[in-house]
Amino acid sequence: MEPLVFLTPEQIHRLRQCPGTPVFAYDRATLETQTRAALAFPNACGLTVRYAMKACPNGAVIRVLHRAGLKIDASSGYEAQRALQAGVPAADILLTAQELAPDFAELVEAGVRFNACSLHQLRTYGGRFPGSEVAVRLNPGLGSGHTSRTNVGGPAASFGIWHEHLDQVVAVARSCGLRLTFLHTHIGSGSDPEVWQRCARLTLELAARLPDVTTVGLGGGFKVGRMPGEDSTDLQECGAPIAREFTRFAREHGRRLRLEIEPGTFLVAAAGALVCTVADVVDTGQDGYRFIKLDAGMTELLRPSLYGSQHPITVIPADGSARAPAAYVVVGHCCESGDLLTPEPGNPEGLRPRDLVETRIGDAVVIGGCGAYCAAMSATNYNSFPQAAEVLVDTDGSLHTIRQRQSLVQILANEIVPAGLV
Ligand code: LLP
Repeated sequence: MEPLVFLTPEQIHRLRQCPGTPVFAYDRATLETQTRAALAFPNACGLTVRYAMKACPNGAVIRVLHRAGLKIDASSGYEAQRALQAGVPAADILLTAQELAPDFAELVEAGVRFNACSLHQLRTYGGRFPGSEVAVRLNPGLGSGHTSRTNVGGPAASFGIWHEHLDQVVAVARSCGLRLTFLHTHIGSGSDPEVWQRCARLTLELAARLPDVTTVGLGGGFKVGRMPGEDSTDLQECGAPIAREFTRFAREHGRRLRLEIEPGTFLVAAAGALVCTVADVVDTGQDGYRFIKLDAGMTELLRPSLYGSQHPITVIPADGSARAPAAYVVVGHCCESGDLLTPEPGNPEGLRPRDLVETRIGDAVVIGGCGAYCAAMSATNYNSFPQAAEVLVDTDGSLHTIRQRQSLVQILANEIVPAGLV
């Protein structure tokens, strides 16, 4: 996927003028195209698609995706509140959280659906809302991810209730009079479609043991190739065998289960780019490296430092000149050797020079595949750099600022100077 697919040179120029770099740009047309592809996921007895808003929680992005027909997967009480503030009705929000939100009861009373991710959560929910319906997240015993850090299934993952504890789930539900109508699994991000399909089958086997289940949620995790030549999951291909399993289940058990999926990456990864400026160019001699230093870095884009993830990088010469090819290691602006944007694939500690063009201070750089887990998941305010601005590129090409750059006053807003230190 090329980063410049949705940004024209003129738009890049305008973004550099206002709001200035670094700035995230999100393409509405791509968001809507990806939404249509997700809503066409093969299914036998009905489909709900939720947006895993942790990928990019800006309210404007939520509004675009909700209007396009998606519901919301929230991973904390705060995310649920954010979705409500973006105008999403409570009934369209499912709360699937590692930490039981302190306000979970108020959220549920407002109509937010609750997915119990541990026996403790199930007991607490059951104690507060006896006799109601509930969803349960199980760990089906298998997981898969683009690195071990994004694998959230199997014995090494703390997410969801271990599948062998199903009897305990049933016992807790019975003791509180809960009806377990929704069974949920999510096994990892960037998962292998084959493992995803095996998990789907395991989840259906578990659903067979839970007679009240009417909906099965299989999470997200569909891989998106960010670099040219990298594969993306074909949802039609991935979903077709699952639709057949749901049909078979209906035939064998007489129950037509509705399918839910909740992608994050698939919907937004390709819709985002980070536009930045070259702050410096340095080298470490003949046997060393040439480095491009950006006015952005792990404060905006942590994935390379965290996972060794690869993002496409394009240098746009400020003077418009044609430049000779040249290889550089691209780094961020933090005083931290881990602030690296061109690691070895899968190895955040290795340097991997990238073939670019001769680069000068002041050139623009556009980094692609930055819609998912970039603005949302960064080392915010490290070295006291402010949070970058975000802009929505509308279908008519107009640019709307959807988050301003943070100010120093905002960074300091919650600090309190003790009387003795004034
Ligand atoms: N559902 C649940 C319960 C999740 O925890 C997640 C992601 C998703 C859905 C969406 O997964 P996706 O479709 O985006 O793969 N930060 C990593 C990915 C970890 C996301 C954690 N949970 C990354 O940058 O790739």
